[in-house]
Amino acid sequence: MDWFSDSDDTRIDFAATLTGWYAHHKRDLPWRHTRNPYFIWLSEVILQQTRVIQGRPYYERFVAAYPTVQSLADADERELLRLWQGLGYYSRARNMHKTAKYIAGEFAGRFPESYAELLKLPGVGTYTAAAIASFAFDEKVAVVDGNVYRVLARVFGIEEDITTTTAKKTFSALANRLIQQSDNPATYNQAIMEFGAIQCTPVSPDCLLCPLQQQCHAYLTGRQRMLPVKSKKTAVRERFFNYIVIRQGDRIALKERTQKDIWQHLYDFCLIETEEPMEAFRELPEGRVLNWVLQEGILKGLSDERTHVLTHQKIRARFWLVEVPEGRKVELPDGLTFCKPSETERLPKPILVVDYLKSLRF
Ligand code: ADE
Ligand code: SF4
Repeated sequence: MDWFSDSDDTRIDFAATLTGWYAHHKRDLPWRHTRNPYFIWLSEVILQQTRVIQGRPYYERFVAAYPTVQSLADADERELLRLWQGLGYYSRARNMHKTAKYIAGEFAGRFPESYAELLKLPGVGTYTAAAIASFAFDEKVAVVDGNVYRVLARVFGIEEDITTTTAKKTFSALANRLIQQSDNPATYNQAIMEFGAIQCTPVSPDCLLCPLQQQCHAYLTGRQRMLPVKSKKTAVRERFFNYIVIRQGDRIALKERTQKDIWQHLYDFCLIETEEPMEAFRELPEGRVLNWVLQEGILKGLSDERTHVLTHQKIRARFWLVEVPEGRKVELPDGLTFCKPSETERLPKPILVVDYLKSLRF
């Protein structure tokens, strides 16, 4: 079958096949029971770069904590980041906060109702605008995410490298032609994403039980594994984090990460970053912190290396535990503050830090 022909029948077939499949296979997810553009937006921001199973409890907590865009706008950023803790890509949370403030300020808390207007919001891109416009307002505008790229590339045999802007145009144009043939764009958009998420999966698509099998270019030519075409990822940078964990009694010294770097506005320990792994405390680069520790503290131990993998970085962290005798009055270096366990608990922290703190309690 020629999917690129202008015969509308084939395209109706595609949309109808997908929505038919969806009716039987869709997962029951909380954001599929709402037309509230704010909740839909919230779910889409959470689900960017996050799996549904992981994102779902966060969605439920956010809806409960911030039931309106106004309440999100009014939120304390630290509390918001704490609620986000563990989801990663923390700039998403901060941008979400900015967008909420913008909607509260400029639109009195009411979301714009068209794709074109949604796209004007700061921090809202084509994908999110299409998701809100179709799910909340039934506008016929196609979502194009990783799932959609994969399904379209395989079914239609599109060989363009999906990391390029020309490919984005190709896929988006095709997706928008296909959605015209559906009279329920909200369902159609959910269906194609769900199909990519559970049927036409990246590594082992379930082709044998697939309703598109006989029309699918990839299946018919055995090219499922080659499609979509995606150029090599950029190299992963290795970083070595030497954390100096200063403890006095039950209090631990923390500081806010203020630099323009990963985990901005989260809290971690005193950090000495090095170009190579450091084996001995005295190999660490000299500085105020080192002098301070040697004068005021007692080195209690060094953790095993723990790694944390991000998209373009691999963090290799070691934790040097330093005790300051109780009762001694000390001035901490470099913006650190001693925090009681209850304060530490409330602050937003990278998971690397959360896990290390857990290990300290045993
Ligand atoms: N991933 C991104 N958006 C989604 C949605 N609305 N439903 C399920 N998975 C998604
Ligand atoms: Fe995807 Fe396989 Fe179905 Fe083609 S036949 S759409 S590759 S699951």
